[in-house]
Amino acid sequence: MNKRKKKGFFITLEGPDGSGKSTQSLLLARYLKRKGYKVVRTREPGGTSIAEALRRIILNPKNRISKVTEVLLYEAGRAQHTSELILPALQKGKTVICERYTDATLAYQGYGRKLDIRMVKELNRIASSGLKPDLTILLDLDVREGLDRARKVSRGRMDRMERESIRFHERVRKGYLEIASREPGRVKLIKVKETPEKTHLEVVKVIEKLVK
Ligand SMILES: Nc1ncnc2c1ncn2[C@@H]1O[C@H](COP(=O)(O)OP(=O)(O)OP(=O)(O)O)[C@@H](O)[C@H]1O
Ligand SMILES: [Mg+2]
Repeated sequence: MNKRKKKGFFITLEGPDGSGKSTQSLLLARYLKRKGYKVVRTREPGGTSIAEALRRIILNPKNRISKVTEVLLYEAGRAQHTSELILPALQKGKTVICERYTDATLAYQGYGRKLDIRMVKELNRIASSGLKPDLTILLDLDVREGLDRARKVSRGRMDRMERESIRFHERVRKGYLEIASREPGRVKLIKVKETPEKTHLEVVKVIEKLVK
């Protein structure tokens, strides 16, 4: 990101529904703030008012959305989120922790929906202005376990993606694992532990190698 003089650190949290991204984002932000970092927590889809409006369209189970429309809605939200929030924060030297980013689109729309992988990668590149996470933490757990957790949180009001079949979610998980094995330098795989605190300790182990 030389041309934009990116100074801050960009961390993304990825993983299937209910894997603990929001929980770990909060714990990691607290940890980094204690170390003196200025931290911005955000999420996708969403993060800015336009992108949150798109999130409501994307996740509303009443909407029937074609695969191509879906990927474009995600990418439209990402383009706005990246230019309005993420890049300016990084330029100010802030650490940005983002739940889901380009890898999620590759896993869900590429592997899950079976859209052309090269097309999804190209759309990711355009929407992110070529921004890549410095570090991605992939939280991995059994698909059913994750969905059970996510469904408990939403108490019967599951979103459009959570309502997808187990097979869809299995493809997403496999996609994530493939991404991790292709980019072991950037993507750190963490098996979700019995408690959020234990998982956080694993996240800290990864982070400690990068921040002193
Ligand atoms: N390691 C863990 N062990 C047990 N329960 C956990 C663990 N991590 C998170 N949880 C619980 O599982 C539920 C889902 O966690 P969380 O909302 O953080 O997941 P998420 O990945 O953000 O989900 P979504 O994809 O739906 O946003 C929450 O109720 C949370 O308290
Ligand atoms: Mg969440």
